Amino acid sequence: MSRRILYAPSLLSADFLNMENSIRSLEGEHDWLHLDVMDGCFVPNITFGPGFVGAVRERFPREVLDVHLMIDHPERLIDDFISVGPDYLTVHAEADHHIHRTLSRIREKGGKAGVSINPGTSEQLLRPLLPFVDLVLVMSVNPGFGGQSFIQPMIDKVTMLSRWRTAGHYSFLIEMDGGIGKHNAAMVAQGGTDVLVMGSAVFGAPEPARTLREIRTLVKEATDRA
Ligand code: DX5
Ligand code: ZN
Repeated sequence: MSRRILYAPSLLSADFLNMENSIRSLEGEHDWLHLDVMDGCFVPNITFGPGFVGAVRERFPREVLDVHLMIDHPERLIDDFISVGPDYLTVHAEADHHIHRTLSRIREKGGKAGVSINPGTSEQLLRPLLPFVDLVLVMSVNPGFGGQSFIQPMIDKVTMLSRWRTAGHYSFLIEMDGGIGKHNAAMVAQGGTDVLVMGSAVFGAPEPARTLREIRTLVKEATDRA
């Protein structure tokens, strides 16, 4: 039986003036919604804050909201984000001097804690944190923008994380984000990724739901064969 792969379309590439319709255009073919919060400091772009995340939560109470904080000193805003009801709240290891404290705070407040690393950061930085997280997000582009090209060697980080997970009997999910689409989704899944984030490949397509179905089929065929 093939491993369950989850699909998390990123709203960064959706229509900001028509968000509700963008989400409905997925026709339930997705598993999670991925929300990219950017502060213009940690990354050279600005998106939205807790107000927007809360609005999505209110309108779509049953969706799994996967919030990716690309902000400096995320510890300052953890309580604000948790109060609007995300499922997963992910912070960057590079952005926080006391990342263990922040991850613990997310869990204490009832959230699922995620930690992420940029392409230039070694996965070794994550190792001491693995007992304390529900999700590890490996960036496969430099964060800040949609539509960039996948950085191939990042897949080796997934292989390593997956080994550490087995050895340590951990249960965190491994997510990959950036440059994923029809051309490489199967390879990303086969490399050991559990959650595929896709922005432009899904919302940039004329029919997002159909594209998701096609990608699911490609991935399933490849993982069944393996
Ligand atoms: C990039 C964001 C991604 C982005 C991915 O900084 O973290 O979630 O939406 O977009 P694509 O899939 O177009 O690379
Ligand atoms: Zn993201």
